[in-house]
Parts: sequence; C-alpha cells; structure tokens
Amino acid sequence: METFSPVAVFDSGIGGLSVLQALRRRYPQESYVYLGDTARLPYGTKSPETVQRYSRNLCRFLLNYNPKAIVIACNTASTHALDAVRALAAPLPVIGMIGPAAAAAVRETRNGHVGVIATPGTIRSGIYEKELKKIDPRVRVSSQACQMLVALAEEGWSSGPIAAATIRQYLDPIFDTAEVPDTLILGCTHFPVFEALFREILGPSVTLINSGEVAALQLSGMTGTKGQVKILATDDPERFAANASKFFDQGLVATDIGLVDVTAVS
Ligand code: DGL
Repeated sequence: METFSPVAVFDSGIGGLSVLQALRRRYPQESYVYLGDTARLPYGTKSPETVQRYSRNLCRFLLNYNPKAIVIACNTASTHALDAVRALAAPLPVIGMIGPAAAAAVRETRNGHVGVIATPGTIRSGIYEKELKKIDPRVRVSSQACQMLVALAEEGWSSGPIAAATIRQYLDPIFDTAEVPDTLILGCTHFPVFEALFREILGPSVTLINSGEVAALQLSGMTGTKGQVKILATDDPERFAANASKFFDQGLVATDIGLVDVTAVS
C-alpha cells in the first residue's frame, strides 16, 4: 500500500492555492497537503525575522505529514526563509518562488526591462533585483510594493472598479513613463487572481510571469498515484472556502478545510 507522502505546500493564506493549482496541473496523480496561515496573514508587512519564525513553524508542522518535498508557495516567505526552511527540511527538496520567476523573466524580456510587483517585505529586501541581476547584470528592474492587492484578493474582490483603480494606482509609477518594462513578475501568490485586469490594463505587449506556475516546473520526479489533497488553515475555514474558488478550480466548502493550531509545534 502506498503511504501518504505528499508534497507539502504552505502560504500565508489562500493565495498559495494558485501554486497548488499549478502543481496539480503538472502532477495530478501526486498527493498534496496545503497549509494556509490565515491566523497570521499578512506576511508581506512583517519583519524578516517574524516571517522566518512563522515559516520555520509551518515547516516543522508539515514535516509531521511525512512530505517528499516542500513548496514555499509564498514569495514573502521564500524571500526571508528559504534557507531556514531548507536547513530544517534537509534532505527534502524545498522549492521557493523567487529564483524560478526571475529566471523566467530574464528569458522572456526582449527590451531588458523587468517590472516586479510584490509585498513590501519582498520589495524592500531587493531579492528580485538581486536574482535578476545575478542572471543578467544588464537587466533594468522597476519594482512596486502592492500590499493592498493582498487584502483585495483575500476579500474575493479580484475584479470590478475598486480592484482596477488599485492596480492602476500601483502600476502607474512603473508603466506611465517613457521606458516601460515588457515583462512583469507577479511576485506574490495572491496576484494571479487579477490576471484578467492586469491584461486589460497593460495590454498584450507585456508578458506576465506567474511566480507559482514557473516555480511548479522545478518540482521533478513525482511518483504519487493517489492524487489526494488535504487543505489546512490556521483560522476561519468558512472565509477560506468562500474565497478559494478564485484561486483553485475545485470548489471547497468549510468542512473540506482542517483547522489546525501550528503554534502547538515548537
Ligand atoms: N502570499 C504572500 C506572497 O506571495 C503575500 C500575502 C501576505 O502578505 O501574506 O508574498
């Protein structure tokens, strides 16, 4: 009998479901355990030390599920805690969001100008700029922190005039200039829900990089056959289920989501 040895995926909330979706598209037979830290969201405004502490805590909790790999489906946690989670989970493979998205952007850009939108924590760290320039020092990078989009995504407001106005306000400093990026990294797992609006506002000449989709390509050699998915949250399964459909094409109800206390694990 196959033992339950899932790919463990964690995020600060429901946004990481966009990564789980990409993983399931690639490996539908694989089993997954997803943990959204809804009790402590947002991560994007918190200090690197706090995000690292929370991430280590989630990793320790998930190690109890006998995972075969860990995916940090949160750009902010990937920014501050990739090394810490790798050290804790070794020898398991740990995939973060930053490197794959930077590599995809450098591959895609034709004018050598890449835009990055992410949480304040990710932008302040300068991690995308460092990664992009490590791959190609000639790349020009324009960055913008967009924390309000996380709140809109968690609220389920992924379309309509408020989301559109908020996106315009954030993107104007990057795109309302003479030299605009031709590639935009959606450097937060909550942002793919706004893809239609990004396309409408930016037009077809800007390539969007979905960090979760490109990171999912890093997972290799999966051999699971059961295709089971366990979804856990640290707070409010009702709210989680109500908004999950924007990120995940499988409908969820509150009873599908296990409420867990990760703080019980030191
Ligand atoms: N999901 C997180 C990320 O990808 C952002 C949400 C938050 O602020 O917690 O960066």
